[in-house]
Amino acid sequence: MTIKPTTTQTGTPVASDEHSLTVGTEGVTALHDVYLVEKLAQFNRERIPERVVHAKGGGAHGVFQVTGDVSAYTRAAVFQPGATTETLQRFSSVAGEQGSPDTWRDVRGFSVKFYTAEGNYDIVGNNTPVFFIRDGIKFPDFIHSQKRLPGSGLRDATMQWDFWTLSPESAHQVTYLMGDRGLPRSWREMPGFGSHTYQWINAAGERFWVKYHFTSNQGNIEMEGSEAELIAGADADYYRRDLHDAIEAGNFPSWDVSVQIMPYEDAKTYRFNPFDLTKVWPHADYPLVKVGTHTLNRNPANFFAEIEQAAFSPANFVPGIGASPDKMLMARIFSYPDAQRYRVGTNFTQLPVNAAKAPVNNYSQDGAARYHFNATEAPNYAPNSLGGPAADPQAATDGSWENDGELVRAAAALRSEDSDFGQAGTLYRDVFDDAAKARFLDTITGAISGVQRPEVTERAIAYWSSVDADLGVKLRANLASWAEADLLVEAAAGYAAE
Ligand code: HEM
Repeated sequence: MTIKPTTTQTGTPVASDEHSLTVGTEGVTALHDVYLVEKLAQFNRERIPERVVHAKGGGAHGVFQVTGDVSAYTRAAVFQPGATTETLQRFSSVAGEQGSPDTWRDVRGFSVKFYTAEGNYDIVGNNTPVFFIRDGIKFPDFIHSQKRLPGSGLRDATMQWDFWTLSPESAHQVTYLMGDRGLPRSWREMPGFGSHTYQWINAAGERFWVKYHFTSNQGNIEMEGSEAELIAGADADYYRRDLHDAIEAGNFPSWDVSVQIMPYEDAKTYRFNPFDLTKVWPHADYPLVKVGTHTLNRNPANFFAEIEQAAFSPANFVPGIGASPDKMLMARIFSYPDAQRYRVGTNFTQLPVNAAKAPVNNYSQDGAARYHFNATEAPNYAPNSLGGPAADPQAATDGSWENDGELVRAAAALRSEDSDFGQAGTLYRDVFDDAAKARFLDTITGAISGVQRPEVTERAIAYWSSVDADLGVKLRANLASWAEADLLVEAAAGYAAE
């Protein structure tokens, strides 16, 4: 084996990786030890900012294979019969920082990047089909309430429940989160959802509304809260390890990818707002239509390059797929590339993991750490008469719908079945069995018992009473009996100390 000489970043051979340059063996260190200075400076810059949310995660490369025929609904090449597309998937937790335990109860991120022939298409979803809020202007406040107090740096049940109970549209998602589905056994054994409503456009220009579903072929398997807490202490990287080891062993996880399809006109008269991210569409109204299968089959060779620097974005559409009038989606379309310009750098799309496999032609230039440049003779402005790239109106990926009205700051007009608590109540009553209901009651009791302001506790009881009246009664009794038990423990401790 030939050992290569160690060099500086600029290729000059270096004398030592063990001894700095000093005046005598006991003397001061020389500032002109170029290699020492470079080594320390480079090390100091190894970290990039972690994602402002979804900081802890893991992922793998894969392939998406179309098995169905949805060509009547979208002309996107990635979804045409028989198409096979390389992908990258990242899973994550929302609130915890880098290094936080994978098994803390939280929503899990489910991001897929399709490197399609028409450019990159990303579905940046979660393992839940709904979300806590329905207007992006609330997102920073929501996240602040779930992360840490600015003073103590501690997470705080009081602010979490203060926010949730003052934002009743959160009830459906909080019911998911506090139920068994809030603790999947692994990333492999959970579903994924695009969550938002998106627009599909077919070759004839006809429009449809769709919601994406990823159904795990490993099944949906959850873990108990007590087990999750133990694992959080024993192995903070439990999910990341599980995914890595499964793929390393050739046990490739896969998900069936389906869509619910709503005819364009239905949205105008549907009984609740179909663009409201806090609602699911009943499958009885819009059944799942299978599109294909997504399989993860290759671990990253370099975690930083392929997972940490990966930039997923709901703004990455391809022809045949567009946005919808969902206020959350519109805020996200701005937010992700903005975050990535800051987190990874202006030219983040040139990094191999983010670079399109389709040709990239435009008039952008320069910026920090630019690596690819247009040919010297190519024009750097449009329009031009020099044969530079030309935009194609047919390729629009914006989505389109009729809209008119004054500029306002107001919620969407309520329809007959628009309610904050209705679908949360259905999930609790009709989907959870008795054992799941009992676990759910214990989970919310535990979470609310950390609240330090009585009026917030009262609001939390009212919130769950609105989800289900009987649940509210049980919660009040459970909170009282837990408090009494704590008093008994305190009393016992006091007795022992005397
Ligand atoms: C990550 C913003 C709602 C799923 C992020 C990031 C930002 C962000 C800034 C970090 C991006 C990066 O640095 O690469 C927002 C805003 C939202 C919102 C402003 C509301 C208006 C949602 C919703 C979902 C979601 C509704 C799921 C349906 C994710 C996922 C990631 C993420 C999965 C991690 C992406 C990855 O794996 O790299 N979000 N988010 N977010 N968000 Fe959101």
